[in-house]
Amino acid sequence: VLAWTATVLAACPYARRDTPPGQPLSLSVLHPRANHLSTTRPRGHQHVLVPSPNTQHDHDYTHLKAAIAAALVQSESFWPFDFGNFGNYGALLIRLAWHCSGSHRNADGRGGCDGARIRFVPERAWDDNTNLDKALRVLEKIKTEFDWVSWGDLIVLAGNVAIETMGGPQVGFCAGRIDDADGSDSLLLGPTALQKHVQPCLLNGNCTTPFGATTIGLIYVNPEGPLGVPDPKLTVATIRTTFGNMGFSDRETVAIIGGGHAFGKTHGACPSGPGPSPIDDPTNPWPGTCGTGPRKGKAENAFTSGFELKWTTTPTKWSNQYFQNLLNFEWEKFIGPGGHNQWRPTGIDNPDIGMLTADVALIHDPTYKKYVQEFATDLDALNKAFAAGWYKLVTRDMGPRERCTNSDAPPSQEFQNPLPASHSNPVDVSRVSAEVKKVIATTPSLASALVHLTYQCASTFRRTDYRGGCNGARIRFPPESEYHENKATGVSDTLRALLPIKRFFGNRLSWSDLIVTAGSTALTLSGGPKVTHKYGRSDAPNGEQSKSFPPRDYYTSIDFRIIDDADVIGLTPRESVALAARPRVKVNVGLNSRVSNKFFQALLSQTWVQPAGFEHEYRSKENPEWVVLDRDVAVLRNPEWKKIVEEFAEDEDAFLEALGSGWTYLVDADLFDQRV
Ligand code: HEM
Repeated sequence: VLAWTATVLAACPYARRDTPPGQPLSLSVLHPRANHLSTTRPRGHQHVLVPSPNTQHDHDYTHLKAAIAAALVQSESFWPFDFGNFGNYGALLIRLAWHCSGSHRNADGRGGCDGARIRFVPERAWDDNTNLDKALRVLEKIKTEFDWVSWGDLIVLAGNVAIETMGGPQVGFCAGRIDDADGSDSLLLGPTALQKHVQPCLLNGNCTTPFGATTIGLIYVNPEGPLGVPDPKLTVATIRTTFGNMGFSDRETVAIIGGGHAFGKTHGACPSGPGPSPIDDPTNPWPGTCGTGPRKGKAENAFTSGFELKWTTTPTKWSNQYFQNLLNFEWEKFIGPGGHNQWRPTGIDNPDIGMLTADVALIHDPTYKKYVQEFATDLDALNKAFAAGWYKLVTRDMGPRERCTNSDAPPSQEFQNPLPASHSNPVDVSRVSAEVKKVIATTPSLASALVHLTYQCASTFRRTDYRGGCNGARIRFPPESEYHENKATGVSDTLRALLPIKRFFGNRLSWSDLIVTAGSTALTLSGGPKVTHKYGRSDAPNGEQSKSFPPRDYYTSIDFRIIDDADVIGLTPRESVALAARPRVKVNVGLNSRVSNKFFQALLSQTWVQPAGFEHEYRSKENPEWVVLDRDVAVLRNPEWKKIVEEFAEDEDAFLEALGSGWTYLVDADLFDQRV
C-alpha cells in the first residue's frame, strides 16, 4: 500500500498543476497524456484492439472466488472486523465495488471501475472513499496470487462474492476491465486543479452536467441531505436526478440503495474525524482519531463518513429488513456521535438501528415508498431487482456485452445497448463501393456530404465507456437525427441519397455498413488516403440507445472542447487535426471539397475574423468567401496543436497518414467483437 501510494502521487502530477490566469490554455495542462499522446495510442485504440489477458484464464474464476471468500472471513490487525467474531469484510468490499463503479457519469462516459482508478488520486482521496484503502489492502494478497486478474475485475468480483456469501442473490459478472497506469482519466471528475480550471462546479453540492454527482468527491448525493440540510423531502429530488442520470428507474434505485444497506454499518465513533487524507499523508491515510491504544481509529473507533449506525439487526446477512425498518418505525433526527445529523426510531430506548437522511427520503416520496412497501413484503422481488440493479451498477461503464471476456457473463442487457446480429455480407464490399462511386459521379457535391454523414455517425463513439459509434446507425432516428449539427447540415437528406443503394442490397447490407462504406469511398475519391474498414455492423431498431451517450454541449470553452472531444473519442491530437481537413459541409477554403494539406496552409496564411452575428463561423479577411469554424481557429490558439498544423502544411504525406489512421480508428472503434 505504501509503495503504491507513493507511486500514485509521483505518477499523477497533473492534479496540482494549473495555468496562470490570462495564459492560453496549454495542452499539457488540459490533456493529461499530452506528452506521450503522439507516440502512444490512447486507451480507446488499445482497448478495442487488444484482448484482455483474462480471456485465457476463464477457468480460474472458481479458484479466484474461493480465495476471495476466504479473505472475507479473515480479520486483519490493520482493520479488525466490525461486529467482532460475527463480522466479515463483506460490506466493506461491497462499498468498494460500488464506489469504484459509481463514479461513472453519463455526460462523457468517464469514471467507472474499468481502469480501477479508485487506487489512485484523485478518486482515492475523495471523502466518499475514506478508508477504502483498507478494503484494497484486504484484496492485495489475492491480486498477487492471481496476477492475471485486473484490479478492476477483482474489485467487482469481490463485491459479488460478498453479496452471494452473505446470503444475497446470485449476481452476474462481466469480466474484461483493463487497469489504468494512473488516475489521470479521473482528473476531470474532480476535485483537482484541472477540473476547477476547465469545468468548475459553481456550488459544490449542486453540481450539474457533466458532473454525475451533486457533490464533487461524493459518489452520488450527500447522505445528510442536500448541502448538508437534513431534509428527506429535499433529498428525494437529488436522489432521483442523480440515479436517473445514470439510467436507473425509481424501482431500481430503491432496490440498490436498500439492498446495499442490508449490509454493514456507517462509521463515525467521535466527532474528530478520520485524520489526514491521502493528499496530506499518502503513506498512512485516514489513520483515525477516535479512541486510544492499539484499536485507536479502528473497529468500534472507526471514522469513515461521520455517521454511526447500522440499518438492520443482521448486518452480515442478506434480508429485506431495511425496508421493513423504514416502514415499521417513526424516524427522528438527532446529532450522532460523529457530529452529523442522522436518524433513529422514536419511542425506543437505545435503539440498535438507524438511518441516513438519504434512506429516510425513500419513504417521503409516494413512488419510492410504493417500492419500499413492495420489497418489505416480497423478498423474491427484492432478490431479482437487486441482482439486476447491482449488475447494471457495476457493469454500465464496460459498454456492450461483447466486451465481457468470460464465457459465463449474463446475456446482453438493455443497458448494454445490444444490437441485432449482423447480416452484412462482406462479399459485397467492392460492389457497394462501386455503387457509391456511381452516385457521387452523378452528384459530386454528395462526396463531402457523405464524409460528413459518416463522421457525424461515428464520432459519437466514446472510448471512456465504449458507447456510441456508427454501429447501429442510430443517426437515422431521433434524438441523433435532431441534433442541431445534424439538422443544420442536412444529414437526413444525405441518408435519403443512399436509399436506392440500401434498397438494392436489401438485408445483405446494414445501414451502418453502408454509411461507413459511403463515407470511406467518398473520402478517397476526394483525394484522401485509401482507407480500409471492417464489416459486420448492424442496425438498431430505433434511436433509444443514443440517450445513453448524449451530445456534449456543456462546454464553456471551445479551446477545451477540441482537446476533450479528441480524448473522449480516443483520437490522438495528430489524428484530430488531420481529420479537420476532411471534406466538410460548412467549411470552405477554396479547395472545392478536395482533401489537401492546402487546408492547413490556408489556416495559417489567412487572417480569421468572426463576422458579427455568427456564433461559430470565422471568415478570411483576405478571401471573404472562405469559412472555417471556431474549432479550427481554436486549434491555432493551442501551441502544441498549432505545431501539428504547421507540420501538415509542409508535409502532405504526414497529413494523409494521420488522416487515414484517424478515419480508420473512428469508423472501426465500436466493433468490439472483431478483435485482432
Ligand atoms: C455505507 C451512503 C447507496 C452500499 C454507506 C455509508 C454512507 C452511505 C454514508 C457509510 C460509510 C461509512 O461510514 O463506513 C449512501 C448513499 C447512497 C448509498 C447516500 C445513495 C443515495 C448505496 C448503494 C450501495 C451501498 C447503491 C450498494 C448497492 C453500502 C454498504 C455500506 C454503505 C454495503 C456499508 C459499508 C461498511 O459496512 O463498511 N453508504 N449509500 N450504498 N453503503 Fe451506501
